Amino acid sequence: MKLKRIRRIRKHVNPLAVRKEHRKFKGFKNKNPIFVDVGAYRGEFMNQLFQKFPDHNYILFELRTLAAQKLEQLYGNRENFAIFDGDAGRNWRSILEPSIKKGVKIKKIFINFPDPWFKEKHKKRRFINESFLREIATWMPTEIVFVFQTDQQFLFEEILEVLEGSPFNDIKFFEGSAYGIPTNWEQAKLNKGEKIWRMEFRKKPTSF
Ligand SMILES: C[S@@+](CC[C@H](N)C(=O)[O-])C[C@H]1O[C@@H](n2cnc3c(N)ncnc32)[C@H](O)[C@@H]1O
Repeated sequence: MKLKRIRRIRKHVNPLAVRKEHRKFKGFKNKNPIFVDVGAYRGEFMNQLFQKFPDHNYILFELRTLAAQKLEQLYGNRENFAIFDGDAGRNWRSILEPSIKKGVKIKKIFINFPDPWFKEKHKKRRFINESFLREIATWMPTEIVFVFQTDQQFLFEEILEVLEGSPFNDIKFFEGSAYGIPTNWEQAKLNKGEKIWRMEFRKKPTSF
């Protein structure tokens, strides 16, 4: 008998087609600094960061409903974790602005190994794009630092170009896992000996 080969295909979800909105979150009960993870998947990275900074707050965005449900199961009972399913871009302002207005520090925003969206016509699905940066530049304070890590050199170069032409052109390259914590995706790539490209960026104080 011939065994049927089952191919596991993890289909990408188009973030622009996921319209779920979160409008009720007004921030955490305390005013401790917040770490943000865009595309947290199983949340291991944030969980390890939590071991280092247990008094900080954590915002996890995850596009995939099932992954977000899993995050909820794993970390939903922690007071300092807030989990949001759906497109992070669509919910960016409503989730982050209330805390910023209260003077809470957003310590770092991680965009770890985002889906590359190779095709030209799919570029607009990328989390970091010109219109997103233009919009957030109007209200996000300069001191907020984004961390971008990827195993895709072409993506790194393209995003770098977008950043250089935006107010977020204060850019610093770095080596080694952020906070010494490799993400799941990163570890899989490192195990295969692949290279990782990394940078931090923020809005130039003189931009406005
Ligand atoms: C390649 S995986 C990387 C997962 C994890 N950051 C890591 O480094 O191990 C990308 C993750 O980002 C999520 N994602 C993609 N676009 C997103 C968006 N616009 N908003 C929230 N999550 C997103 C995907 O569902 C997926 O879980």
